Amino acid sequence: MKTFIIGLIIGVLLVPAGAYFAARLGMLPVATASSPLPMETLIAKTALRAKLRREAPKRAGVPADPADLEAGAAVYKTNCAQCHGLPGQPQPAAARGMFPPAPQLLSADGMVTDDPVGVTYWKVKNGIRLTGMPAWSGTLNEQQMWQVSQLLAHADKLPPDVMAKLQ
Ligand code: HEC
Repeated sequence: MKTFIIGLIIGVLLVPAGAYFAARLGMLPVATASSPLPMETLIAKTALRAKLRREAPKRAGVPADPADLEAGAAVYKTNCAQCHGLPGQPQPAAARGMFPPAPQLLSADGMVTDDPVGVTYWKVKNGIRLTGMPAWSGTLNEQQMWQVSQLLAHADKLPPDVMAKLQ
């Protein structure tokens, strides 16, 4: 029992000590081009998913009317396009150099149209820690955050007027 406890204490101390020395020796990845730490992606994704399940609103704060989508397009162009891009345009420079990369939310392979609008709203409002995704609750009002979320939820079927706003 005694050796077990001593072993346990050494084990508990060795792991953080090892991590500390790895950090001091410059062995941990901090550059955007480095690959993620073991379990980094798993932990970040699991934590985010659990949070969204608890906190993402189930009902949309504004409808997906043409007027709201158009207002969402204006919000997007001013605040989001520099990272998340515009339809038919090359990927912005900032998006290419980030880790994790900023998905191109208006291009077919980066859309979040399968996510409930409340999930997108939560991410817009709170940002995503350990990524370049800022929180917008201090900059945009509730209505604007919902409008841009509705825009992204309907990105695969936007009316021509809204598409024109994004050009
Ligand atoms: C400085 C760059 C930057 C800006 C500006 C930015 N984002 Fe992001 N955003 C990111 C990055 C990086 C991610 C990827 C996070 C990840 O992989 O988990 C992200 C992720 C997201 C996601 C989740 C995508 C997914 O696949 O789950 C949504 C939704 C989003 N952003 C919406 C917005 C909206 C709306 C705005 C403007 C109000 C905005 N972002 C502005 C960098 C940015």
